[in-house]
Parts: sequence; structure tokens; C-alpha cells
Amino acid sequence: MNKKFFASDNCSGIHPKIMEALIEANSGHVKGYGYDHYTETAEQDFKRLFGDDIEVFFVYSGTGANVLGLQACLHPFEAVICSDMAHIHTDETGAPERNLMSKLIPIASKNGKFSVDQVPELLVGRGVEHHVQPKVISITQSTEYGTLYQPEEIKAFGDFCKKENLYLHVDGARISNATVALGISPREFIREAGVDVMSFGGTKNGMMMGEAVVFFKPELAKYMKYQRKQSMQLFSKMRFISAQFSAFFKDDLWLQLATHSNRLAQELSKALHTIEGVRITKPVEANAIFAIFPEGVSEQLAEEFPFYVWNEALNEVRLMCSWDTEKSEIDLFIERAKSLCEAAEKFRQG
Ligand SMILES: Cc1ncc(COP(=O)(O)O)c(C=O)c1O
Repeated sequence: MNKKFFASDNCSGIHPKIMEALIEANSGHVKGYGYDHYTETAEQDFKRLFGDDIEVFFVYSGTGANVLGLQACLHPFEAVICSDMAHIHTDETGAPERNLMSKLIPIASKNGKFSVDQVPELLVGRGVEHHVQPKVISITQSTEYGTLYQPEEIKAFGDFCKKENLYLHVDGARISNATVALGISPREFIREAGVDVMSFGGTKNGMMMGEAVVFFKPELAKYMKYQRKQSMQLFSKMRFISAQFSAFFKDDLWLQLATHSNRLAQELSKALHTIEGVRITKPVEANAIFAIFPEGVSEQLAEEFPFYVWNEALNEVRLMCSWDTEKSEIDLFIERAKSLCEAAEKFRQG
């Protein structure tokens, strides 16, 4: 059996129901590029979730979804305000800047979040040709630190954007985890909060691959079909993304899987709290845990249960739970962590 990882939720495999849907879709010929009934059905699934007057475009990757969602909102002289920990800023190899030719303006974040009160001071030089013109605020839900924006915080961004003629973008690579953690529909905390465009993730929650760019202002999607193709995100065999999304929504599979990964993150966090010397550094609100282990422990642990060091200076690591993480793996991990921490403490005391 393959070793299980705590490195990322995209280290997990494909949920059997998604695999079944892929196999079912694998018969006969249908038109390519999304002109097929699987895609029509999946678009309807999104409309049931968010309302009939949305536009939705399926793409391969989360980075692609972010770049395209932002592209719809921006001219190259316009800029995106985002957290200094935002995936678009730290983990997309400059894809937004390269492809949009727009500046990202990072803003100091705490636990992956920033607040609308921090934005006004960045809105300098509006209307002046020597300055980039902020046009989009981008937030991540759940955040890169596994924390959540509360619906009223998103609404505050939405209201601000409306007042200031900005767009609000959400990177929802882990929107499933946020949805179950908040216990309300994303229609409420995304659409009704004033979000204009979002990336809706599938890959990290049991799909093989596939994300969606969802527009709540359909006029923003006017050129998206061209932009998606030009950005190499138009899948010719589109039915294989679409069929996955329909299986994802069927019987609320997406919510069941995210409930599981969030619950196991809570269990892992609770167990880590019992180990002397381990410090949990961020609130655990979705499926990620950030922690600092005593010196020398995380290196050994990571060899057996791979995970990433997130902040090298602090030796802070990230542990992610996935739809297929098992309680027995958490028990093994905790047992090993405990004995390594005890050994480290004995060594420290000489
Ligand atoms: C918050 C967030 N956004 C976007 C992505 C995009 O993912 P990818 O382009 O790897 O599919 C990731 C992946 O780790 C992520 O964590």
C-alpha cells in the first residue's frame, strides 16, 4: 500500500464515485470542447448551486482558474490587491503577472487573512497615469493557512468593492472545506456577499482534476471563451471534467468529503495539543494544521509521513487532511510524534 501523506490534499487520489463517473463517461463519441451533454449537465449543477444567471467555465488547474478569473476583470494597467500569503502571489510562479501583465499588490495578512480596513490606504493615485490602478481585491476561502473569512467579512469586502468600483475575486481552491466549516451555502457567503468571480476547486477534494471559473457578473465573462482557449485551459475532451463535477455534486459528495477532511484535521489538531513541545500556530478551521515541533522532530516525522515545512525560519510545518485520510493514520502519526518529542526532550535535558 502506498504511504499516506499529510503534505497536501492534492496528494490524495480520486474518489471512487468520481472514477466511476469518468468510466461511465468513457463510452461513445461526443462533441469536444464542452459542446456535450455532460458539460451542459455540470453547468446546470453550478446554476442550481448559485442561480441561473451565472456563467461557468471549466478549466484544468487552480492557477489557470485564478488567472482567467482575474483576466476577465483587468486591463494590464490595473492591479490586484491580495494577501501577502495569497497563492496567486506566492505559489503561481508569477503566472498572474506574466499572463495578465498586471501588478499584484500584496497586503500584510494575519493567519492568511487581511481586512477591508487595510485596503483604503492602497487606493492611492486613482486616475493618475503614473500609478497602477487597483481594480480587484482577491481573497482566498479557505485561506492558505486553513482559516476562514466569515460571511460578514466577505460582505464587507463586497460592499467596499461596490462603493469603490472594484471587483471582488475569490480563490476557492478549497471552497468545499470552507462551505462545510461555515455550514451555509456558498450562494450566501460568496454570491450574496458581493463576490464577482471565483475559482471553484474540485481537484483538492476528490476529483482527478478540474476547477471552475464562476462569474456572478455575466458581463465579465464576455470574452472568456476566447481567453480560456488562448490561455491553454480549454480541454478538448471536456466531458471528463464535466462528468467529474456532476459526480462531485451528486448527493452532496463534495460536502461529505470536505466534512471528513475537516473533521480529521480537528482530530489531528486535538491530538497534537496533547503532545508536550508541539505548538499549533494557526486556528484550525478547515483541513490544514500549522505546527511547530521541537527541534529535529519534524525532519524525522516528515520522512515517514511526508509533509511540507511552510516557514523555514520558524520551522513551521503544514499538515493537510484529505478526503481519504484515515483516523488510523492519524493515530500512527501521533504515536510517532509523541515518541520523537519525548526523545527530543530527553536529549535536550542531556
Ligand atoms: C489556495 C490555492 N489556490 C490555488 C491553487 C492552485 O492549484 P493548481 O494550479 O496547482 O491546481 C492551490 C494549490 O495548491 C491553492 O492551495
